[in-house]
Amino acid sequence: MAAIGNVGYNYLGASGLKVSNICLGTMTFGTCKGSFPVFECNTQLDEKQSHEVLDKYVQLGGNFVDTANVYSKGKSEEIIGSWLQKQERDRIIIATKCRAQMDASDQNSCGLSRRHIVQSVEESMFRLKTNYIDLFQAHAWDNGTPIEETMRTFDDLVRCGKIRYYGFSNVCGWQLQKIVEFAKYNRINQPISLQQQYSLLCRQSEWEEFMVCKNEGLGVLSWGALKSGFLSGKFKRGEKPSKTQSRVGFYNADENVAKQVGLAVVWSDYNENDAYWNLIDKMGKIAAAHGKSIPQVAIRWLLQQDVVASVIIGATSIKQLEDNMGASAGWELSKEEMSALDAASPRMSYYPYDFLWRLNGPDRYNQFNRSIKL
Ligand SMILES: NC(=O)c1ccc[n+]([C@@H]2O[C@H](COP(=O)([O-])OP(=O)(O)OC[C@H]3O[C@@H](n4cnc5c(N)ncnc54)[C@H](OP(=O)(O)O)[C@@H]3O)[C@@H](O)[C@H]2O)c1
Repeated sequence: MAAIGNVGYNYLGASGLKVSNICLGTMTFGTCKGSFPVFECNTQLDEKQSHEVLDKYVQLGGNFVDTANVYSKGKSEEIIGSWLQKQERDRIIIATKCRAQMDASDQNSCGLSRRHIVQSVEESMFRLKTNYIDLFQAHAWDNGTPIEETMRTFDDLVRCGKIRYYGFSNVCGWQLQKIVEFAKYNRINQPISLQQQYSLLCRQSEWEEFMVCKNEGLGVLSWGALKSGFLSGKFKRGEKPSKTQSRVGFYNADENVAKQVGLAVVWSDYNENDAYWNLIDKMGKIAAAHGKSIPQVAIRWLLQQDVVASVIIGATSIKQLEDNMGASAGWELSKEEMSALDAASPRMSYYPYDFLWRLNGPDRYNQFNRSIKL
């Protein structure tokens, strides 16, 4: 990893693009009622606050901003667009996505069809006030569209210069391998990244998707590093967080919201799970030994996973931003601390992965077998 000041930079997968190892997530920019509950949360930022966060992020050395058409129904992109106009456009790497329904009255305003992808790219460029997008991502797999149609569209968009690179998000192992094989055997531009939920409390992608990334040269952009803020250390065992002061409190105050959001995004019965609190205690001890914070330990643990190119952080204040950026470079968790965190992080083992991993120990490591990278 190369570092400039206190920020590390990595290549994004097997591409020549360099991104800061902390990417600024902008799901917290803008508010919107009636789409997804997260955009109604009290801690969402208005335009002025969002611009302050963006300014500070760039000042601290970041160059990589992640958004999506669906974030506050286009408002996040608009807020970035009004800020981007005042920047040197070429110094910022902009990533956005499409897949979610944008207009309930229009059957074609969702998915990964050629029609919707091309329209989304045009609309995102308009909101972002730019004539190209650096990284365009499929927000999730779409069962309704043949993957061939999606892949050809991404390739065409790269060739005509509207997008520089493309990637996927929220897919499972067989889907990702199919994506990669299609690009490889049709000799079209390859995806360079996978944006996936990944944290000390969400490690399922280690079994399949990250193996594909390692073997095929995709960089992981992890989201949910703090599990919506739960892994920040600011909540106390047995105390219900206030509904208005944090996203975790907002999700958990109302059963309907928690149900709608689902466990994919937030841990909803957090105060009953000892393993989670024991993990936070362990993170607290490691943080104290380094004079760092719990969020910094959570992010640093991710940065030390070889498959991760950049950790997408969320921040609802400058203080949180500075805290999270402090994980980027200049210090490391030791081997022993990484192992202690691994041990404290609750992991399910599933057949056949547990079985295969036991059979394929160090004695089956073959340095000449280039097709398998563990
Ligand atoms: N591809 C996808 O499907 C997908 C899904 C989700 C997110 N994302 C991307 O990933 C980004 C980050 O995701 P996320 O927001 O779920 O990340 P996260 O790191 O799990 O949670 C971020 C939230 O935690 C709290 N927080 C952040 N830093 C803190 C600190 N230092 N101390 C205390 N609290 C802190 C803030 O909420 P409060 O202030 O409200 O507590 C913040 O909004 C998003 O903005 C988006 O760009 C992608």
